[in-house]
Amino acid sequence: MRIIRTKDYQDMSHKAADVMSAQVILKPNSVLGLATGSTPLGMYKKLIEWNREGGLDFSGVTTINLDEYDGLPADNDQSYRYFMRQNLFDHINIKPENNHLPDGLAADPKAECARYDALIAEKGIDMQLLGLGHNGHIGFNEPGDSFVAGTHRVALTESTIQANKRFFASADEVPRHAYTMGIQAIMQAKRILVVVSGQEKAQIVRDALCGPITPAVPASILQLHPNVVLVGDTEALSLI
Ligand code: F6R
Repeated sequence: MRIIRTKDYQDMSHKAADVMSAQVILKPNSVLGLATGSTPLGMYKKLIEWNREGGLDFSGVTTINLDEYDGLPADNDQSYRYFMRQNLFDHINIKPENNHLPDGLAADPKAECARYDALIAEKGIDMQLLGLGHNGHIGFNEPGDSFVAGTHRVALTESTIQANKRFFASADEVPRHAYTMGIQAIMQAKRILVVVSGQEKAQIVRDALCGPITPAVPASILQLHPNVVLVGDTEALSLI
């Protein structure tokens, strides 16, 4: 694992955008696995800036997001599709038909998971972006007794509901279930880019990188991936 230590959030965002933009420049038809959450926002801003001013070209890029809340339509302002449009897709020259997320309104969850896995297998992810949950989740692969290979519908843990309530009017409004890419699709990405920021991530960064490989800390499986770049600020990396 390559660890890039940055001085603060801004610096982290810039250096993470350097890595992601290099992927797009080197392979203009890249398939990018993308994440929502607060951490990638600064990186997305940089990519938008470079698309507008520097000609970073997304016209051949395909994206496959990690996850989506179950029960939220695409036009709900808390859905991850909405988030991605607001924070990236609507501001760059990417083709809307090339942006893929699980369908939060799927009538048949099993069929939706199978559809998503087939899509990932067909496209193949070149670079997967990951944030890190406070409990060690990646995507919505929550701590558990075993790693889950495929896309699945998951019950969010209390810790995740509490962490995500900042985006909703109250914790009660946070959906209780979500669709998430499984560990297999994440680990089969050719490259993985992890972004972490802030003191509150320091302990879980340490557990994930230096602790045992265990489904109790889903991100610990990244220790087995041959091509991970982790970009973190000094606070998030303060315990390693
Ligand atoms: C988001 C996702 C989550 C977040 C994680 C960290 O699509 O899959 O795993 O990456 O919860 O979120 P932030 O960046 O808000 O700390």
